[in-house]
Amino acid sequence: KQKMILDVDTGVDDAIGIILAVKSRQFDVLGITTVNGNVSLETATRNTCKILDLLDEQHIPVIKGMNTPLFRETFFEHAVHGEDGLGGALVDMEPKKMSDEGFAPDFIIHSVLGFPGEVTLIMTGPLTNLALAIKKCPEMVKHVKEVIFMGGVIQGPGNVTPTAEYNTYVDPEAARIVLKAGFESITQVGLDVTRKVLLKDEHIDELENAMLASYIKESTADYRKRYFERNNISGCAMHDPLAVAVAIQKSLVVTKGYFVDVETKSELCDGQLVCDFQNRLQQPANLSVCVDVDEQAFFDLFIRIINS
Ligand code: BDR
Ligand code: CA
Repeated sequence: KQKMILDVDTGVDDAIGIILAVKSRQFDVLGITTVNGNVSLETATRNTCKILDLLDEQHIPVIKGMNTPLFRETFFEHAVHGEDGLGGALVDMEPKKMSDEGFAPDFIIHSVLGFPGEVTLIMTGPLTNLALAIKKCPEMVKHVKEVIFMGGVIQGPGNVTPTAEYNTYVDPEAARIVLKAGFESITQVGLDVTRKVLLKDEHIDELENAMLASYIKESTADYRKRYFERNNISGCAMHDPLAVAVAIQKSLVVTKGYFVDVETKSELCDGQLVCDFQNRLQQPANLSVCVDVDEQAFFDLFIRIINS
């Protein structure tokens, strides 16, 4: 099995990403590390533990990381994920555990050095924990098998500001450290593709596991309502689950290598990814960018795994 660490800021779609990763049985999940983002670090951690209770997989370590971005204030996304982060689902649940010992950046470093060349990092929140791990132990970078992160948008509008996607907006300095680190394999799963995988009623209707179906339905209800009000689309984007799915099946997406940087010093464009399509800067590609996705294949995989 693929050794993996999942780094999350558990909101609605991170939670579904966790469900997908664990239920797929494709991974040896070394741990789930948490970070401030959609909700506070405490709430993200609590939500992660609730999801593991739902799956009855409490043995998976949950390790807390950074409670702020590297240099900036927190910027929560309660409007999308609800005050509690799970869209009001599981709000009364008391998780069996609150977290395990340790600090996420150190856990990432030790795991990678413990299994050199074997660990895949799937990142579905702001990149703060990984950036700090790189700063603390730069030699760790060459021992990571692969990084797959949900964040940024290459072509098209942002979802927080006119130009920036949430995860890169919240901690652009961290995103920059990660992009410049020199990972052997790093794939960006951005809004360009995640906006195309919309969870609709028809997908939920195909879920056979009544408990998970009702959880997914309830937790996404407000998110889908918001999508409908804003975009007139019935469905909501499975941003983070797509990042997990790409780790399971690469053929879901088409990727292209580009040199990509992040804006960090602009009033209007902080957190925007800048992709050098025409290689004006004469830099080698540092990122595998997902430019297209097979939506049908994603939902086939999604439904098959949840029903397994
Ligand atoms: C990303 O931002 C968060 O709100 C979601 O969980 C996802 O990781 C989408 O822009
Ligand atoms: Ca997320």
